[in-house]
Amino acid sequence: GAAAAAVGAGGFGLLWASADVSTVGKVRFVNRLVIPSLAAGRRDEAGRRVFDLRATTGTSRFRSGGATRTWGFGGGYLGPTLRAARGETVLVNVRNDLPETTTVHWHGMRLPAAMDGGPHQPIRPGTTWSPTWKVDQPASTLWYHPHPHGETAKHVYRGLAGLFIVDDPATGRLGLPSRYGVDDVPVIVQDKNFGDGNRFDEGHPLMGGLGIMGDTILVNGTLGPYHDVTTRRVRLRLLNASNARTYRFVLSDRRTFALVGTDGGLLPAPHTTDHIQLSPGERAEIVVAFAPGEKVVLRSDPPDLGEVGSARFVGGDDAFDVLELRAADRLAPSPALPGSLAEAPRIGPPGGAGARVDRRFELSGSKLNGKKMDMSRIDFAAATNATEIWELTSLGGKPHNFHVHDTHFQTLSVAGAPPPPELRGWKDTIFLRAQQPVRVAVRFGDHADPRTPYMFHCHILYHEDQGMMGQFVVTEPGQAPATSIAPHTGH
Ligand code: C2O
Ligand code: CU
Ligand code: CU
Repeated sequence: GAAAAAVGAGGFGLLWASADVSTVGKVRFVNRLVIPSLAAGRRDEAGRRVFDLRATTGTSRFRSGGATRTWGFGGGYLGPTLRAARGETVLVNVRNDLPETTTVHWHGMRLPAAMDGGPHQPIRPGTTWSPTWKVDQPASTLWYHPHPHGETAKHVYRGLAGLFIVDDPATGRLGLPSRYGVDDVPVIVQDKNFGDGNRFDEGHPLMGGLGIMGDTILVNGTLGPYHDVTTRRVRLRLLNASNARTYRFVLSDRRTFALVGTDGGLLPAPHTTDHIQLSPGERAEIVVAFAPGEKVVLRSDPPDLGEVGSARFVGGDDAFDVLELRAADRLAPSPALPGSLAEAPRIGPPGGAGARVDRRFELSGSKLNGKKMDMSRIDFAAATNATEIWELTSLGGKPHNFHVHDTHFQTLSVAGAPPPPELRGWKDTIFLRAQQPVRVAVRFGDHADPRTPYMFHCHILYHEDQGMMGQFVVTEPGQAPATSIAPHTGH
């Protein structure tokens, strides 16, 4: 039987539902970490890299006591890791074999709005959607997941998500660990509640205004996971693909590690730290050094959520184990970490928190700037290649974060202070502590389309589904943006 990764109470009291559960916050690591298969893709005659994804229902065995009904790409749970290099053109055939409409969004990808996979690109059951675009951005850990209007939480929770790794020849020779599944390891972290007969429990009366918070941790769909370390250094590509939970990743002996990348690419230089906090949708690449024979556990400490009312309902008190890393008695050498990695983002005004603010975004309750998402409303138009300064503020009450499609931003300031080292690289999703305005510089791409919007929203999926989301278009000079558009509802 497998072990359950029981999370601290979270107010739910479901921890003893299974005999698999050992101690609260302690996990028996009995399952080898599943590494999502790498979809290399194939080349078509036009030289494009072609991938096939099929969203479908299925079953997965997470633990003893019966299979769980899940949704996944290719059956089972989650999907393959897609991988492409900067400069390549990709084409993805996304087939929907689910009983309902879905979409597939490329989170963190810079691409034309019609390829973005948001709520305006529905894939009806039995049909295939085939977006194509040229990958043109730095090496980074991106991901894909459904984004159907009002249904994102359910589709992601049931298992539809996967990684999309972008390689960049310019930074490919830095010597970072890069053997996929060996010393370059995807770590997709999600929390689940298992109900009767091991079904995924999708709701609970004590949702606490956040949506689903699970008491059991899966990594790449593996419960109670361990990974065999065979090299001196290992890169972990951490993705918080949870609906609502924020993690504060640490190592069990409090050792430091090197943070080398965030959402949109590598940091200017490795940042030595002993923790990295990720809210839903955020990624981090970290490099951990090992001595032969040791065991180290990746854990989550109680996250720092700022003022959020009752910490216990939002996981603010929870600490638990995530993944055990087991070093072999002999470890292959790894190259030393380079002293510098990538160019620092420099699109904002020098000196950081300058005077000019082009747009303000306030998150409160389930509204963004006092409005709920309306598929037919365009909230603003931005010019191609323009740089705008945005101020993002959570008014509090509940935790919120902010994600914007098609672009990455440079963080200029947090509550008026210079950003901490973990926010000095490119980001597309950022946690907002209540009443601590975050200023960012956003550079729009050159994909103009006055009629097809991109999204910006809170990535706590219940909030997104509730309407904490808006839409913008990117236009060329002289192009008039649509002021309203006919929605495709797909339902
Ligand atoms: Cu990962 Cu609009 O989302
Ligand atoms: Cu996105
Ligand atoms: Cu929110």
